[in-house]
Amino acid sequence: MGMKERIKEKIPAWRDRVNRLKRDFGPFKVGEVTVEQIFGGIRGVQISVSDISYVDPMEGVRLRGYTIPETLALLPKVPGSAYPMMGGLYYLLMVDDMPTMEDALEVEQEWKANSEIPSCVFDVIHAMPRSTHAMTLFSQSILALQSQSVFATEYSHGLAKKDYWEYYLEDGVKMTAKLPGIGAYIYNYKYQDGVYIPPDPDLDWSANFAHMIGKGDHREYQDLCRLFFVLHSDHEGANVSAHTSHLVASALSDIYLASAAGLNGLAGPLHGLANQECLRWLLNTYEHFGKLPNRDEFAQYVRDILTNGQVVPGYGHAVLRVTDPRFTAQLEFAEKYMPDDELLYLVKLGLDVIPEILLETGKAKNPYPNVDAINGTLQHHYGVTQFDFYTVLFGISRLVGITTHAVWSRIFGKPIERPKSLTTQMLEDMVEGLPPMGNGSGAKE
Ligand SMILES: CC(C)(COP(=O)(O)OP(=O)(O)OC[C@H]1O[C@@H](n2cnc3c(N)ncnc32)[C@H](O)[C@@H]1OP(=O)(O)O)[C@@H](O)C(=O)NCCC(=O)NCCS
Repeated sequence: MGMKERIKEKIPAWRDRVNRLKRDFGPFKVGEVTVEQIFGGIRGVQISVSDISYVDPMEGVRLRGYTIPETLALLPKVPGSAYPMMGGLYYLLMVDDMPTMEDALEVEQEWKANSEIPSCVFDVIHAMPRSTHAMTLFSQSILALQSQSVFATEYSHGLAKKDYWEYYLEDGVKMTAKLPGIGAYIYNYKYQDGVYIPPDPDLDWSANFAHMIGKGDHREYQDLCRLFFVLHSDHEGANVSAHTSHLVASALSDIYLASAAGLNGLAGPLHGLANQECLRWLLNTYEHFGKLPNRDEFAQYVRDILTNGQVVPGYGHAVLRVTDPRFTAQLEFAEKYMPDDELLYLVKLGLDVIPEILLETGKAKNPYPNVDAINGTLQHHYGVTQFDFYTVLFGISRLVGITTHAVWSRIFGKPIERPKSLTTQMLEDMVEGLPPMGNGSGAKE
C-alpha cells in the first residue's frame, strides 16, 4: 500500500488528537516568554509541534520516535549493503510506521519514475556564473521547478482545505525525486567541467547521487551517501530551515517555494554552512603543524584558539548536551572504512581533548562534538573536497524532512503564522517600576 493510502488511514486519529487539544485545552499555557528570549532569538520558546522528529538533549534526534541507532538498525537495507534505503526513511517520516522492504522499494520506485529534471533547471544553472555558491544554485533550481507544482495549479482551480495535503504530498514526492540529480548536476557544473552522468536505474536514490558525480564504482562512497542522507533528514521543527519553510508554507506557498526558502536559511554560516567551516578548521590545523600533532601540542593549540576568543568549530550545540549520535554513526563508519585517514586522526584527537578543555572554560553548555565535527572529513576522504558543496549535500537530505513537515502541517490544517511584535517602549512600560531581575546572561554589547 502506498504512502498516500497509509497516511489517509491515519489522518482521522491524528486529527482527533490535535482537535481535542485545541478544543478542550486551547487556553492552557505551555510556557512563558521572557524579555531575554525576545531579544535572544526566541531561544527555547515552545512555539511549534512536530511529531516527525524531536531533538532530545540527552539522546539526540529521534526520527518518528526512533533514535539514530534504532533508525539505522531498523530501516530496510539496500540489497547487498548494510546501509538503509532513503525511500524507507521517507516512508517512516511521512507515514509514521517503520517500512517493510516493499514499502521502501515502492517509494524508491516512485522517485525513479519522477526523477527526470526539466531543462529549465539546467538553463537556470547555466545562466549563473560558475563561481555562484552551490547553495544559491540549489535554491534557484528548486524555484525553477515551481511551475510544476500540482498544488499551486489545483489551488487556483479551487481546492477543499482538507485535501491540500494530498497535493503537497504529490509535489513533495516529485520534488524530492529530483534532488540527487540536481545536486549532482550542480557539482558537475561547478567542479567537473559540466560532465553529465545520467542516473542508473538499478541504483537507489542515495547511491544514484554518488553515481551521478562519478563515484558509481565506489561502493563505500555509495554507503556513505546512504548513511549521510538518513542522518541529516530532519532535526525537529523549529531550527532555521525547518521553521522558515514552515512559515512560508503557512501562507499556502507551495512546497517548491517553501523548500527554496528553507534552503536559503540552511545556507547561513550559523546553520548548514557550518559544516564547511569545520573541515576548513581541521585542514588549517594540519597545515599549522605541518604534521600530525601529538596530544599536548593539539591541546595547547585549542587553548590558544579559545584565548583568542574564537570558537572551536564542530563542538557545542544549542539543544544537545551529549555527543551528537549523528557524529557517532559517522565515526563508526570512518573507523571501519578509513581508519588510517590523517584527518580522522585529528577528529579523534579532538574528541579526546576538546571537551575537557571546553569544560575548563565553563562557558559552553555542551562541550561535545556535533555532526559537523566529522561530516567533511568523510566527504574529503572520498574525494569530495569542495567545501562549498557540503551544504548542498545537507540540503538534499533535509528537504526530505522539510517536505514531510509541510504535508503534515496541511493535514492538521495549520493556519498562516502571525506572531506579534512589540516596540521597545512597550517592553519598557511592562517592566516599569519592577526591581532589576538580572538573568545571568547579561547585556554584553
Ligand atoms: C553551536 C553553537 C552555535 C551553539 O551556540 P549556543 O547555544 O549559544 O551555545 P552555548 O549556550 O553553549 O554558548 C555559551 C558560550 O560558550 C561558548 N561556546 C559554545 N561552543 C563553543 C565552542 N565550540 N568553542 C568555543 N566556545 C564555545 C559560546 O560562544 C558562548 O560564549 P559567549 O557567552 O561568550 O557568547 C556553539 O556551540 C558554537 O559556536 N559552536 C561552534 C560552531 C559549530 O560547531 N557550529 C555548528 C553547529 S551544528
